[in-house]
Formats: sequence, C-alpha cells, structure tokens
Amino acid sequence: MTKLNVVILAAGKGTRMFSDKPKVLHALAGKPLVQHVLDTANILNPQQICVVYGHGGEAVPLAMSGYDGKFVIQQPQLGTGHALQQAMPFLSDDSLTLVLYGDVPLIQHKTLHTMQKAGDGLVLLTVHLDNPSGYGRIVRGQDNDVQSIVEQKDASPEQLEITEVNTGIMLAPTAKLREWLSKLGNNNAQGEYYLTDIVAMAVEQSVTVHTVQPAHRWEVEGINNKTQLATLERIWQQEIAGKLMTQGVTLADPARLDVRGEIICGRDVEIDVGCIFEGKVTLADNVKIGAYSVIRNATIGSGTLIAPYTHIDNSEVGPNCHLGPYARLRPGTKVAEEAHIGNFVEIKNSEIGKGSKANHLTYIGDSTVGCRVNIGAGTITCNYDGANKHRTIIEDEAFIGSDTQLVAPVTVGKGATIGAGSTITKDTPAGELTLSRSKQITVAGWQRPVKGKK
Ligand code: UD1
Ligand code: MG
Repeated sequence: MTKLNVVILAAGKGTRMFSDKPKVLHALAGKPLVQHVLDTANILNPQQICVVYGHGGEAVPLAMSGYDGKFVIQQPQLGTGHALQQAMPFLSDDSLTLVLYGDVPLIQHKTLHTMQKAGDGLVLLTVHLDNPSGYGRIVRGQDNDVQSIVEQKDASPEQLEITEVNTGIMLAPTAKLREWLSKLGNNNAQGEYYLTDIVAMAVEQSVTVHTVQPAHRWEVEGINNKTQLATLERIWQQEIAGKLMTQGVTLADPARLDVRGEIICGRDVEIDVGCIFEGKVTLADNVKIGAYSVIRNATIGSGTLIAPYTHIDNSEVGPNCHLGPYARLRPGTKVAEEAHIGNFVEIKNSEIGKGSKANHLTYIGDSTVGCRVNIGAGTITCNYDGANKHRTIIEDEAFIGSDTQLVAPVTVGKGATIGAGSTITKDTPAGELTLSRSKQITVAGWQRPVKGKK
C-alpha cells in the first residue's frame, strides 16, 4: 500500500464550547478529542502525522507532547484549505494524505481502511443526512459522478436540497493535493480558503473522485458544543458497554457505565450500576463490582467481591478478596488473596498479606502487613511526623486491638497482640500481649456538673 501521511486539522476556535481550553482538548471517555484521532491515525501506521493547531496557543502541542507527530501552527486561521497548506512542507509527494479533524473524535480505523482501498484518485467520506443543514453538499452530475462540494453558505436553493454531505475527511495523492492547494482562492461567502474546492479541480483534471460511507453515523459526528460532547460520550459508552456484554460481562444497566480508558474483563464478571473505570483496569474471572465504585489503573483478582462505593486507585487486589462497601485503596496498595478490607478503611502505599482483615474505620499508610493479621476497628498507622513518612510493619498473625495508634517507624512482631486503645511507639515482641493504657479507675462519689444560673 502507498505510504500514508495523516493531517489532523485542529486549529479552530471552538467558540460554542464557551471555554478557555482549546476545543480539541476537551475530553471524551477521559481522553482529549484530538488524542482519539491521533490514536486512530496511529493504527494506520502512517509515515507522518501532522497536527495543525492554532487557537489556544501552545496548549495543544503541550498536552500531546507524548506523541511524535509534527505540530504545525496555523496563524491566522483562514479556512480548512489554508490549514492543510501549513502541513504540506512536511509531507512527501510519493504518499497519500489523509485529512482528519481534531473535533471529529470517533472516526474508526476500519472506515479509514475502506477509504484506502477505494481506488486511485481523490476519496471523500460522505454521509446522507435527513437534515444536511450546515454541511458542505456533494454535487453530482448526470452520470452520478461527483462534480464538486458546495458549502451551505454558497449553495443555490436546489443544492441545499442535496442530502449527501461532506464529512470533511478525505484521502488524496499528496503531489496532486499540493498542486490543488496552491491554486485555492478565497472568493466565497466566508472569505476562506476552502479545502473542499479541490474537488472541482480534481474533476477538471479527470482525477476520479470516489465516495465512501462510514460504518456508523457517529464516526463522523463533530463536536461544537457541550451538548454534542455529552451526546457523543453517551453513544461511545453504549458502544463500550455493548462490546463488554458481547464478551459475556453482565452489566446491571449498560446505560449506567462509564469507561474512561481500557477495561479488560475475564469470564462471569458482573458490574452494577454507576461504576466508573479510568485508565487501565483488569477484572479477572468472577469479579463482582458493586454500585457506584470508581476504579482507576488497577487489577482485581478472580473471585474478588467489591461492595458498593469502593474507590480503588493505582492498586492491585488479589483473588477472592472482599472489599468495601466504602473502602478506599490509594496508589501503591497491594492486597493479597483472601484479604478483607471493610467500610471506611483507607489504605495507601501498603501491602496487605494473604487472609488479613481490616474491616472497619482504619487508616493504613506506608505499611507492610503480613498474612492472617487482624486489624481492629479504628486502628491508625501514624505514618507522618509532620516532615517525613515512616513505615509500619505488622508481621504475620498479629492481632491489633481496636482504636490502636501505631506510631511509625514501628514493627509489631509475629503473632503479637496489641491491647485495644493503645498508642504503640516502640517495636512490640512476637507472640506477646503489649498494651499502653492507663489503669481504669473509678472516682467514688463523683458528680456531673450542673448548669449554673444566669
Ligand atoms: C467543513 C467543510 C464542510 C463539511 C464540514 C463537516 C470546508 C470548507 N468545509 O465546514 O464541507 O461539511 O466541515 O463538519 O472545509 N480548521 C482549521 N483551520 C481553519 C479552519 C478550520 O484547523 O482555518 C479546522 C477546525 O478546527 C475544524 C475543521 O477544520 O476541526 C473544520 O472547520 P469548520 O470551521 O468547522 O468547517 P465547517 O464550516 O464546519
Ligand atoms: Mg464544523
């Protein structure tokens, strides 16, 4: 196949977003619009990707700095043809150039592949719309061949009746494109250099103009305002939900799922309503996720049950665990198999060993907890002295009584027991009971104070 260049036009202002952020940096499914287009373009393995940016200054290249694409500024913005001209110095003549749009995020590589296979010449991606208002119309001759594209503002009443419209996405031989672009004028209703004018030039030179339709309408939906953004977000989430269900995932309600990244599911996974998955999340076989849980960059082992309202961030959870409701795993947490982490338990940068339990109202930070440890309600690892963080080590089979403070750095030995209500500041020996508590006394005859007269 001929070498491919991709140019992504993304210089437009996005006035109707009413935002200080360039339009193409607004997120759909947790990812900037233009990054969706870049990711899809990369699947085609092109020789070069150029992103034409302009409005919003350096914000677009800065946000996309991880991409080795070429970022070309268009200043001022004089139309789509002018935008493409800015990229031409970076494209080689022995290639094809594919034009994509930074605000048309959901174009799929299969559709672009169909365009690549359409034949030599100019390939336009078009759609038929019940309401074509606002779009450039595809004008066909008597033989049904494409003659030109006419913009809404320049169209005659008859042309306005045409329902086949230009999506903007096109594929052209680069050398021809360079020649046509150099001849563009701006003598039209908007005083802009229209990319679409190259179609009539191709026809004049008897270059074949092919048309291809996208596999789905939503692939060519552009975003101009927050309503369109939200609508396309829902369409995309329904697509993701559909794919998951096809793979056998049980979704309590496919309309109440948000995947902002990548989710990989094993067999017999069940996800209740209102869950949000961000970054890369892997759920092994038989995992059940309770309602309104938020899980980001995490792996969950097989058979683990996550009760509602649990938050997991950059953590690993082993198989057959029970988490939540209302548990919070912060970055750097590793929970081994068969552990139980209950309500209002927060864990950060810690390892919890096999079969250990922290079931109620606890903070475990910067800690290494062994296997079969029982951590009583209200236990706190005091990991921060105001300047530095210190580690707490709790060895296998230790039992931490309720309402204990473990002032780090500190080690609780294997099989040690800590009496409830203790403040532990020194290492505690293995196998022994340690407690730090003043003796209980009863003050005989003590009276509660009574309210004084005003
Ligand atoms: C364009 C097409 C129209 C098509 C429609 C599909 C032209 C002349 N018209 O019209 O046939 O039906 O898209 O949505 O091409 N951009 C730049 N620099 C500029 C102008 C635009 O980078 O100077 C970018 C915008 O950021 C946007 C895209 O090009 O991503 C399209 O621009 P827009 O102004 O929306 O073109 P339309 O008038 O909608
Ligand atoms: Mg537009």
